[in-house]
Amino acid sequence: MKPKKNKEIISHDNFVRGRFKEDISEITADFTASLDIDKKLADFDIDGSIAHLYALEKAGIVSGKEKRDVEKALLKIKAEIKNGKFEFNKKYEDIHMNVEKRLTELVPESGAKLHTGRSRNDQVSADFRLYVKNRIKHIAKALIDLREELAAAAKSNIETIIPGYTHFQHAQPVSLAHHILAYYEMFTRDFEKLMNAYKTADVLTLGSGALAGVDFDIDRRLEADALGFGSISRNSMDGVSDRDFALEFNFALSMAALHLSRFCEELIIWNSFEFGFIKLKDEFTTGSSIMPQKKNPDVLELIRGKTGGVISNLLSLFIMMKSLPLAYNRDMQEDKKPVMESADTVYSSLSIFKEIIRTLKFNKENMAAGLKDDSIYATDVATYLVKKGVPFRKSHEIAGRIVSYAENAGKTLSTMSLKEYKKITGLIAGDIFDIFNPEASVNSKKTAGGTAFKEIKKVLKEYEKEIENNKKSLSALK
Ligand code: ARG
Repeated sequence: MKPKKNKEIISHDNFVRGRFKEDISEITADFTASLDIDKKLADFDIDGSIAHLYALEKAGIVSGKEKRDVEKALLKIKAEIKNGKFEFNKKYEDIHMNVEKRLTELVPESGAKLHTGRSRNDQVSADFRLYVKNRIKHIAKALIDLREELAAAAKSNIETIIPGYTHFQHAQPVSLAHHILAYYEMFTRDFEKLMNAYKTADVLTLGSGALAGVDFDIDRRLEADALGFGSISRNSMDGVSDRDFALEFNFALSMAALHLSRFCEELIIWNSFEFGFIKLKDEFTTGSSIMPQKKNPDVLELIRGKTGGVISNLLSLFIMMKSLPLAYNRDMQEDKKPVMESADTVYSSLSIFKEIIRTLKFNKENMAAGLKDDSIYATDVATYLVKKGVPFRKSHEIAGRIVSYAENAGKTLSTMSLKEYKKITGLIAGDIFDIFNPEASVNSKKTAGGTAFKEIKKVLKEYEKEIENNKKSLSALK
């Protein structure tokens, strides 16, 4: 197809096409535009411009009056965007050009000075870092909220016992609280990862210019302070081309999504007729268009399903960055979509998942029924024999024989008679029957971090402090 010449769509020509003989083609303008996506950076772009404006005034490039005029105009643009009055125009390529275009309409002379000592390369890096820092704060808060909800659910279910699984086979009895808090731990690590990503993003890159730094006395500290950046970058070439912060953020998001997907999978199973361990609130289920009896766990399924997209976004970003030479390359324009998409998905997933947990009903009867299979105590039988002096490998073998005997005799560990036990080993006495009890099994675990009620209570206390500390560190972020 031959690109159509169109004088209307001269894109960003007004700004950067001084050296060109031809206008940009419509098809190129359309292909290179990123406005639909980087629109979301608008507020950060304006904040960044205001900080830069202060530095320009300090450097004597704009006067006090010019600074005031431009700042006023920028704030007006911010309000226009907020009120839906701003006319976004794709022919100005991206959000940075759109804002600048409007600025030069409002204040032509002084507005045209704003881009002194700045390149879109350092501008977009700074805007994106501000965006990432902002999203981290929201998502970290959502993680804290979810962890609080999980701790609350655990607190009221310390003494609820369920079968614990390995290989998706009955393994050993565990407290339901212990199971729930395993996820608390995962989401705590996600929180920490987000805080680390914040640190990586918390570096001011304005002042890097296109790649080499700028010729004016731009006070980068002043810009950093105005924008709430903890430090300033030390290498302008790295400054404009580094996207580690975006990758780290996306990695943390992928981990959170992965953890959510595992929990969703379990809840979907627990919600099945066969398990019946939980009941989801109606508002989080949907009906079937053909089967009237159905209440499908669609929300859980969708969170699980969206995880694929979140992980792919991380990969997209990795692959886009791989092998890029220094410094800025236009490939990098593709960095925003995967990050913004994942940030939105994970934030909404965490928020709705928290509500699901908050309104979840546990069916304790069905959970108890899941423990009727006595072979779940086979490890406890082996431990019983160890306590009578049998080496563990040997006791494991004897317990195995007991389980096999029971199976063949059509009995269970608790319905076998003492005489039958004695035939297998004389070391077993009447007290063997005390161990076929979920609570005894759970509370016989002695190690820190184990499922015994006492341990869970201890850990829950630690979590309270931990959450308080996390809240403090979160509110200390600029
Ligand atoms: N829209 C571009 C992006 O998001 C802005 C930077 C453009 N820089 C350039 N040299 N063309 O990456």
